[in-house]
Amino acid sequence: GVKIVTIGGGSSYTPELMEGFIKRYDELPIREIWLVDIEDGKEKLETVGAMAQRMWDASPYDVKVHLTLDRREALKDADFVTTQFRVGLLNARVKDERIPLSYGMVGQETNGPGGIFKAFRTIPVILDIVEDMKELCPDAWLINFTNPAGMVTDAIMRYGKWEKVIGLCNVPVGAMMAEPELIGKSLDELVYAFAGINHFHWHRVKDLQGNDVTGEIIEKMYGNDSGIPANIHDTPFFIEQVKQMNMIPCGYHRYYYRFEEMLNHMLEEYHDPEVGTRAQQVKQTEAELFELYKETNLDHKPEQLSKRGGAHYSDAACETIASIYANKNTHIVVSTKNNGAVPDLPADTVVEVSAYIGAAGARPIAFGSLPAAERGWLQVMKNMELVVEEAAVTGDYGLALQAFTINPLISSGETAKRVLDELLIAHKKYLPQF
Ligand code: NAD
Ligand code: G6P
Ligand code: MN
Repeated sequence: GVKIVTIGGGSSYTPELMEGFIKRYDELPIREIWLVDIEDGKEKLETVGAMAQRMWDASPYDVKVHLTLDRREALKDADFVTTQFRVGLLNARVKDERIPLSYGMVGQETNGPGGIFKAFRTIPVILDIVEDMKELCPDAWLINFTNPAGMVTDAIMRYGKWEKVIGLCNVPVGAMMAEPELIGKSLDELVYAFAGINHFHWHRVKDLQGNDVTGEIIEKMYGNDSGIPANIHDTPFFIEQVKQMNMIPCGYHRYYYRFEEMLNHMLEEYHDPEVGTRAQQVKQTEAELFELYKETNLDHKPEQLSKRGGAHYSDAACETIASIYANKNTHIVVSTKNNGAVPDLPADTVVEVSAYIGAAGARPIAFGSLPAAERGWLQVMKNMELVVEEAAVTGDYGLALQAFTINPLISSGETAKRVLDELLIAHKKYLPQF
């Protein structure tokens, strides 16, 4: 049987993960699941852990869910390690969002100053986890969901020197779930091709005769559900721009293609005490979810979890694990080493692309060069990520300032430096490297 370890097991998403494993038990025979958390997440771990065990007990399968604060005990002889932790929990995210917004800047979980600081807090922790894995489960696969998932996955390979890693996101899953219906097709009648980096990729779609149907989907996207995650305000893209590129940008591109409107919307919510930033809204949803998880007769994933932006993420995570285990060679969009799939970026950097997933991991599918406008964006964004990673590893203040300066959502100057300094102070406890 397979041993699964989930770091950040106290997450409210854990039932989603259990549901995905239960659905796939026949091809992925799990023996035991270890949910790992830390002292600050102990209560959440106990509540959601009991819920996870109830889900298995209500299934036909005999799987034991172990709960522990001892990561090393859990990692011993693991086959798959999944990571879904948040350093500093949601309170840290509140600061990532509110401090930049208080200066009129974008305050978002994975973009702008907040995304940079989430990387600063997370990368040292993930590198520690990798060191433990080298010792305790050197053959295991690391399936990373922890955001910013692209930078975290890149850092695992670049600085952790750990190759058996796959980074995942639910955004491509959402697109592939919603779009086919818009043109009266099912997913298996279409061929999807994604390229870019996490939360900054585009895709094209063909039918089985090889005809490009991207334009048809673009026409139907407006006014319909195109699968963008619940956390992103749906300011539509300019249709002339999207038609011109003939690629579908991911939901997060709104922060770049409609910067003005997205910032104004965030500022409105920030200034409205009844609403607050996304992290404040999510804290409310999380509290409701944990109240439900405490109900000892609840043994399936509750509907309310779909209010979170990461809905359906187990479809990516559990399918990836099952595909590696059973060498299925399934098409899944993953963060993995480029190796030429996107020639506009270096071969050794992590990209988010369509790939075949099998026993040897991810084999990225060649996408080819992007048009000049998208290539320009992508190269800036990827290099921004590399600067952030290096700053996270070295704790070099000058590099942190460089990261702020190259980030397209941050205007340079005194205010940017002040936001950087304020975030460094606010997160001091989680930033020993600075
Ligand atoms: P959360 O605030 O509930 O945190 C999850 C758990 O991580 C908490 O119980 C916390 O105590 C624990 N934790 C914190 N530091 C830890 C450490 N050093 N070791 C072990 N556990 C630790 O977070 P959430 O909202 O459930 O999100 C979890 C993570 O998954 C975040 O990083 C989030 O950005 C990410 N996420 C990614 C996607 C994606 O598309 N890749 C989708 C959803 C969520
Ligand atoms: C999206 C992204 C995730 C992100 C989540 C935020 O689905 O893919 O990477 O973490 O939304 O959702 P939340 O409910 O926490 O705002
Ligand atoms: Mn994501």
